[in-house]
Amino acid sequence: MNKNMIIKNASEVVTCSGFKAKQGKDMQNIGVIEKGAIVIENGIIKDVGDSKAILERVNEKDYEVIDASNKAVLPGFVDSHTHFIFGGYRAEEFSWRLRGDSYMSIMERGGGIVNTVKSTREASLDELIAFGKERLDSMFQFGVTTVEGKSGYGLDYNTEMKQLKAMDELDKNHPVDIVKTFLGAHAVPAEYKGRTEEYVDFIIKDVLPKVKDSAEFCDVFCEKNVFSIEQSRKILNSAKALGMNIKLHADEIVALGGAELAAELGAVSADHLLQCSDKGIKDMAESGVVATLLPCTAFSLKENYARGRKMIDNGCAVALATDFNPGSCFTNSIPLLIALACIHMNLTIEEVITALTINGAAALKKEDTIGSIDIGKKADIVILKYLSYKFLPYNAGVNIVEKVIKNGELVWNKSNR
Ligand code: NIG
Ligand code: FE
Repeated sequence: MNKNMIIKNASEVVTCSGFKAKQGKDMQNIGVIEKGAIVIENGIIKDVGDSKAILERVNEKDYEVIDASNKAVLPGFVDSHTHFIFGGYRAEEFSWRLRGDSYMSIMERGGGIVNTVKSTREASLDELIAFGKERLDSMFQFGVTTVEGKSGYGLDYNTEMKQLKAMDELDKNHPVDIVKTFLGAHAVPAEYKGRTEEYVDFIIKDVLPKVKDSAEFCDVFCEKNVFSIEQSRKILNSAKALGMNIKLHADEIVALGGAELAAELGAVSADHLLQCSDKGIKDMAESGVVATLLPCTAFSLKENYARGRKMIDNGCAVALATDFNPGSCFTNSIPLLIALACIHMNLTIEEVITALTINGAAALKKEDTIGSIDIGKKADIVILKYLSYKFLPYNAGVNIVEKVIKNGELVWNKSNR
């Protein structure tokens, strides 16, 4: 297999160039090169620029050549917040929500996350891997080349580890790269019902020290009637002391001050933020916490969207992710996400692309190696069916990704199907 590749004559190479999160107005800068080309060697981007100039510098015979005439080329998308490893489904609960039950009322009745905990505990490692593979295949076809995956459906040491191991296996055997997050504080399991403080202590003393090398991030569902600000601070400080990066589910249903806590603790990202306060927005902008917004969840929960427009106008770095999970948001659709962010959150398509590439990478602390088409980065690249990135929201809800290149290899090619 030829390890070297040239993508030439692209009507647009949307570079998203940069090695750090883009905040505020900078999110508009996506660095488009018209009639562009990319040179890839051994899975790494070696050159990018004007197609004619690049073709004069190289010998095409030494490369696999993709002619991207009339096609837009972008960095692979980074889905920086998902819960894609789980057993069972909750379609029944979704039907209750459609009839008016709230997400939290179902959780309080013993449904919700603990329902999935039961089926995830029952699932074998191989089953989790098989489900995970199917889900990754579908994400990859949407152009996702890196995905974050959380534990949090075990809530005991063995099952949390089983989820993390499933992700390890998939990371080794599937083209999509996986960044693992430990989310032991996702809910209080049935065996600790009414004893949240004891469960927090169990996570801190018995689980965190044993999982610290198995996940890059520690996350907490900081929410009214789940884990309080104080409990979240305790868990996240312990994770930090063990050398883990931190992020949190913040201000999703109630404005508890999760965004402010993320800024105080130096979290890499604060996620959801549907109810985030003005102070939370200011704190995130000042501290550089990536505000990760999950519009497919707001859509599925029939909630108002996070104030992404205001966040960007106030200088935040916004990332967008699917939050794919069996409860609040059973969709991994990047086309739906793009449509909602543009049409309902009033983000520009340029901001949305930044949020799905370099800012998604920054939400995972991977902005040095992925998230843009820059020399030295991994050649994770998406080629669209159409000549401009502007076709992305225009094709609302429709997948227009035609080719996906991972580490410099053409792995998905729709026109071959
Ligand atoms: O991000 N809000 C908490 N956690 C997930 C939902 C998990 C579930 O319902 O299974 C979320 O929306
Ligand atoms: Fe989530």
